[in-house]
Amino acid sequence: MKKSSILSVVVMFFFLQNFSQETVSVLPIIPKPTELTLLKGNFKLSSTTQIVLQTATSFKNEAELLNTYLQKQYGFKLSIVAKPNTNNNYIEFKNADWQANAKEHYELDINEQKISILAVANCAGSFYAIQTLIQTLPIASKQLLFLPCLHIKDEPRFKWRGMHLDVCRHFFPKEFIKKYIDLLALYKMNTFHWHLTEDQAWRIEIKKYPRLTQIGAWRKGSMLGAYKDQKFDTIPYGGFYSQEDIKEIVAYAEKKYITIVPEIEMPGHSVAAITSYPWLSCRGKQIDVEKGWGVFEDVFCTKDSTFTFLENVLDEVMDLFPSPYIHIGGDECPKTRWKTCSHCQSIITKEHLKDEHELQSYFIKRIEKHVNAKGRQIIGWDEILEGGLAPNAAVMSWRGIDGGIAAAKQKHHVVMSPGTHCYFDHYQSSPTDEPLAIGGFTPLEKVYAFEPVPAELSEEEESYILGAQANVWTEYILNEKHVEYMAMPRMAALAEVLWTPKELKNETNFLERLQKHFLLLDQLDVNYAKALYNVKYTITPNKNTQRLELDLNANSFLGSVYYTLDGSMPTMNSIKYAAPIELKMNTTVKAGLFKNNELKGRVSSREYNINKATNKLVTFQTPPSKYYNTGGAFTLVNSVVATLPRVNDQWLGWSGQDIETVVDLGKEEDIQLIQIGFLNEELNWIYLPQSVEFFISNDGIQYSSIQKQITKEFKDERFAEISFIPKKARYVKIKAKTFGKIESGKPGAGEDAWLFCDEIIIN
Ligand code: ACM
Ligand code: ZN
Repeated sequence: MKKSSILSVVVMFFFLQNFSQETVSVLPIIPKPTELTLLKGNFKLSSTTQIVLQTATSFKNEAELLNTYLQKQYGFKLSIVAKPNTNNNYIEFKNADWQANAKEHYELDINEQKISILAVANCAGSFYAIQTLIQTLPIASKQLLFLPCLHIKDEPRFKWRGMHLDVCRHFFPKEFIKKYIDLLALYKMNTFHWHLTEDQAWRIEIKKYPRLTQIGAWRKGSMLGAYKDQKFDTIPYGGFYSQEDIKEIVAYAEKKYITIVPEIEMPGHSVAAITSYPWLSCRGKQIDVEKGWGVFEDVFCTKDSTFTFLENVLDEVMDLFPSPYIHIGGDECPKTRWKTCSHCQSIITKEHLKDEHELQSYFIKRIEKHVNAKGRQIIGWDEILEGGLAPNAAVMSWRGIDGGIAAAKQKHHVVMSPGTHCYFDHYQSSPTDEPLAIGGFTPLEKVYAFEPVPAELSEEEESYILGAQANVWTEYILNEKHVEYMAMPRMAALAEVLWTPKELKNETNFLERLQKHFLLLDQLDVNYAKALYNVKYTITPNKNTQRLELDLNANSFLGSVYYTLDGSMPTMNSIKYAAPIELKMNTTVKAGLFKNNELKGRVSSREYNINKATNKLVTFQTPPSKYYNTGGAFTLVNSVVATLPRVNDQWLGWSGQDIETVVDLGKEEDIQLIQIGFLNEELNWIYLPQSVEFFISNDGIQYSSIQKQITKEFKDERFAEISFIPKKARYVKIKAKTFGKIESGKPGAGEDAWLFCDEIIIN
């Protein structure tokens, strides 16, 4: 008896502690509200709290959703009444007579007696108030739920707050789609872009064309591992959503104020449709649903029968999805087949089109007419700008932000989704510490720093930026837990970018709130990434010592870094990081972030190759492309051999140009080995050089050639190297000849190849 009352005092104390002033100053609300004032006192929510609805229909949806959440997380629900009987412990919803454009706005007042939600009835605002309330509830409790008294006035910065999911490269069942929608809703995202058709699958049942899912939803195997390995299994893979599934999901999303924008890809990325109905293509040839990833040459032919097909498909799609926007793809459509197709060429002649780019524009415009006639609008990837934008089309800018800028200047609506900040299939920390991904580098901090409105737009043009979204392409995402891992917590960062006024954003404060969200996400069984806790390794030259220094930085409030230099696993008995580490010789560093005697995130390891070229002056005949020059010439002598898969800031890249570079060792040295690393990533048009030549000199004027090396001798297709009887030299010159124009049949055919190089090692 006594024991249990002591326990309840302790429990009470714990919850009161929970809302000490310091704790509430970082109330874990994401996205951060526009206005939040904390007041004295708490509201106690329990199973006897009532929900007051003045009419039977207004706010009923929100009351029920709150009850569903309370039941699931805390094991009780609240009674819904027309008038409170106890008068001092209830939640009320009040209908705001705000304007039509305030549907997502809300006010939330919590005092000791009641919680008041003010919003336009049966619109998103009251639902968002509930999300805020949910995020304010203590996580661990089962019975006593104290909420701090406060006043919140909140509204979003952008209209389009989106997340995309590719269900074609890998398929995710209906129940997971609902969980994904729940997650979007928790962060006040309002758009789910559902990528339903691809080369590797057609995933939406179309009654008029049953073969699309009978045949097109299935492939005979899938790619295994990295693209460059070109390995496949032979396990049949597939799945699709019936129209009944889709109706169920659309209705589910609607209750959470999420618009589902369906994407039906055209004219490219259409192999699965062509497999189902070969007459949709130029050649009419029977082909297989694709097993591998990439861009494929068989695309929809521009003949009339294709349009009849697509219009019928879109009619069924528009019947299923109430979304004002229908996504028609438009990206990455090779024109190869059109160039030799009599149908396609006759349309070019008849319509007085200049080339196949204008034919693509003709295609999209014709589809737009049909969609517009049904009262809807099209949105497409930024390639739809090429050959002229359809009159009413919105543009989703993915190849950077330039497409978005161009569209806004033409007074077209834009959703920003640049690969640099919004591709959640990219790595979120160093690839050495992550599961295999497609490439790229988009850590949480970068997403948080994203600004959807480009500085070069005028105020009027800015108004065309609807918002932004992140894309989750699933070539390398095989299951649901991995989707969650890639989406979270980056989606939380994007949600704040899209909701919170720019001037209220603060990365440290966001990370503090996010740490508390991890508890909530644990409860919701979401497999979020903990990359935030990974140690960041930064190399900088020390001007005084001429040596390199290694910084092991992490946000100090997240914990302390401990490291080893002897290859052993770090613990809290290892060296505590306090100041930059001087690198005097080849070094392996292993480090981890610890807090409260616990390893947060994971231990990571880095190697530094200290050699005669390290930190020496490097010059180029032609500078690298501005797109691939993050760290400048120092990148080649920073002691970091680039890891694979590629992270851009470890590489320098040139397009269609040879590399000629000189390393000045500062004084004459005895040397006998020169190495330079190159990247072989043909899928992305990055090819090894045709040849590499090495030269040495004592004066930087007269060079003597050492030996010519050709690509097939590259060690592991990675380093060109030459070793020789020791010679004295101060200058080392390396010439690498670009692969040149890419021949047909290879990725990027007809374009200039890229040449990427990383470390130069001299010993
Ligand atoms: C895209 O990533 N191909 C839109
Ligand atoms: Zn054709």
